[in-house]
Amino acid sequence: MRYRFLVPMFIVAVLVLTGVLGCVQKQEMVLVVGTSADFPPFEYKDPQTGEIVGFDIELIKLIAKKIGYDKVEIKDMDFDSLIPALDAGQIDVAIAGITITDKRKQQVDFSIPYWSADQAVVIRKGSGITINDVKDLYGLNIGVQSGTTGAIYVEEHVGENATIKEYPTYIEALQALITGQIDAIVVDTPVAQRFTQQYDVEIAHVFETGEQYGIAVKKGNTDLLNKINDALQQIMNSEDWNKLIEKYFGSSSS
Ligand code: ARG
Repeated sequence: MRYRFLVPMFIVAVLVLTGVLGCVQKQEMVLVVGTSADFPPFEYKDPQTGEIVGFDIELIKLIAKKIGYDKVEIKDMDFDSLIPALDAGQIDVAIAGITITDKRKQQVDFSIPYWSADQAVVIRKGSGITINDVKDLYGLNIGVQSGTTGAIYVEEHVGENATIKEYPTYIEALQALITGQIDAIVVDTPVAQRFTQQYDVEIAHVFETGEQYGIAVKKGNTDLLNKINDALQQIMNSEDWNKLIEKYFGSSSS
């Protein structure tokens, strides 16, 4: 009988196939997200639990859910490690209040913008420093986070005329300011505002740099980028967006 193996073979094939599909279905879809958790209210460690929370973290979770991911894994790293980590495939996306710049656009791909910021000079309250333009920064000890647009701004506009101290995180730069090791830090306006609410510091001046934040993916990962843009656009048009702003900024303007 030539066909006597056909039925058992068919049964085996069906069993193998359902087994394979079963495994595929059970596998969790995880979006690996890189951030630098030193930038409240966008990303920071909850003082009580140590958990990484913030506007960006909740936003990427909403986006991941819309795209169909089961969960999000957050990897905390120094800001200047984010682009290399994307490149190396260690993370799928980076969200960290990242300013979209032409230089960075050569290294990674960015989503549509979701926030705007300028650069603020933050000083200790009552330290009597007056800043009206970049020249007033001359001679000061200025702290920034390595690799940020704040660092680049100070290097380009003040350069050798001041002592620029680079820190791995903005929290360390802020600590150095509070403890009197430096005179000022230059940091994005929304984060500067948050620092003034939590510490004895004030904003001395704002440089209008007109920056916009985007979510970054590895260069050429168009499939993921398109999904992120669709989800982000939907969220920004929904009530979720206002709720998120209300929760982390306490008002619904950006
Ligand atoms: N917007 C600035 C930049 O792109 C600062 C971002 C710093 N972000 C952070 N999570 N520490 O360079």
